Amino acid sequence: MTAQKWLDRYGPWVVVTGASDGIGRAFAGALADRGFNVVLVARRATALADVAAAIARRNGVATRTIAADLGTAEGVLAVINQTAALDVGLLVAAAGFGTAGPFLTTNLDDELDMIDVNCRAVAALAKMFAARFAARGRGGMILFGSIVAYQGVPNAANYAATKAYVQTLAEGLRQELKRSGVDVLSCAPGPVHSGFAARSRMEMGAAMLPDDVVTGALAALGRKTTVWPGILSKILIGSLATLPRFARTAIMGRIMAGMTKRLHESQSQT
Ligand SMILES: NC(=O)c1ccc[n+]([C@@H]2O[C@H](COP(=O)([O-])OP(=O)(O)OC[C@H]3O[C@@H](n4cnc5c(N)ncnc54)[C@H](OP(=O)(O)O)[C@@H]3O)[C@@H](O)[C@H]2O)c1
Repeated sequence: MTAQKWLDRYGPWVVVTGASDGIGRAFAGALADRGFNVVLVARRATALADVAAAIARRNGVATRTIAADLGTAEGVLAVINQTAALDVGLLVAAAGFGTAGPFLTTNLDDELDMIDVNCRAVAALAKMFAARFAARGRGGMILFGSIVAYQGVPNAANYAATKAYVQTLAEGLRQELKRSGVDVLSCAPGPVHSGFAARSRMEMGAAMLPDDVVTGALAALGRKTTVWPGILSKILIGSLATLPRFARTAIMGRIMAGMTKRLHESQSQT
């Protein structure tokens, strides 16, 4: 698709949640490079202002920042209200986080907050923007699953469950909204170098760059239901696909045990 066709279909404004860091920040930059005006959403106002300033310097597109906690109803409402007057054609719902470690030891508030940010806010924003996009007969949304979404994952059980929710939501919406001219994509990466690992306290060895996630997702938008960007995620998904669910769960449990080894060690020392 030419740059102009992209803008006609998904522009002129795009809303990117999680734009202060990692994958969301990379999406915001790449979409500004394509000429989109960008609404940047996350909690940290200063980090958002830095991203907005860098985009404005590089591209000269218009930017807005919304500092909002998407774990709250007020935060979600702020995004809906503050974008109401803008002609938004694309939602990139990248805000999210993970928890790791034994479910018996994780913090209940964190687990529930994760459901609010990863699922509840995504459902609310998808519903509101789907209505706007359907009314203008074109638009798109990129939601974030993960390779952990396709089976249970011991030591990241609730995080994997939130991503299973998003995957299922995206699959249903893709078919339902097609008739209204709205493209829906689940972007389901494997490990990515971002702020995610530090926050979730997972250790990642091989991991891809956020820019490569963006390239894969933008190439798939409107063409696929799910994209597993990068070779690592494709290998993992491909090799697990033929196994029964319980076997996939056991393998993902082994992988996650490796990714949370130091967390286990530090917990057993306290
Ligand atoms: N990195 C990976 O390995 C990986 C793999 C598969 C899927 N994913 C998914 O990809 C998405 C993006 O992750 P990432 O790797 O870019 O992580 P990241 O670098 O930690 O970025 C997460 C973004 O979400 C924002 N955020 C977190 N909690 C928020 C809240 N309550 N309200 C508003 N914004 C909030 C953060 O900004 P503030 O802190 O400023 O609020 C930040 O901008 C997530 O949904 C994640 O589950 C990541």
